[in-house]
Amino acid sequence: MPRGTHLCSLSDLSETDSYLFTVRELDGSEEEVILVNLADCVAAWKNFCQHETDQRLDRGTGAAIRDGELICPKHGSMFDGCSGHCDNGKAAGSTLVEVEITVEDGDVYLTDAKCRFVREGGIDDGDDMPSSSSHLSF
Ligand code: FES
Repeated sequence: MPRGTHLCSLSDLSETDSYLFTVRELDGSEEEVILVNLADCVAAWKNFCQHETDQRLDRGTGAAIRDGELICPKHGSMFDGCSGHCDNGKAAGSTLVEVEITVEDGDVYLTDAKCRFVREGGIDDGDDMPSSSSHLSF
């Protein structure tokens, strides 16, 4: 088993699902991360668009994913779910910020030395807020 935090099993995440979780960065700030399980890769990205960084790709109900691409809900730029790169729309020429994960025996672990797992769900789903959903959309 790799060092790191177990996030989920790949069998729980289809190609159109995203898994939202919150991490704490080295500077103490929290960031949201989305994990995707696509035909060609499993990848985790910081949950914000590169065009407007306050724009979340997953607003708490799952990211929009089509044909292996993550679609920004605000202006519709599409990011390759495996490379993170965008070649269209207002975010053209940018790349999502990757978070390191490890897949082993069908399970996904957060193994990025620059952050640690805080909770399933987004930043707004803290202790004093009711959880909006499981963040696994089916
Ligand atoms: S905010 Fe994402 S493309 Fe504009």
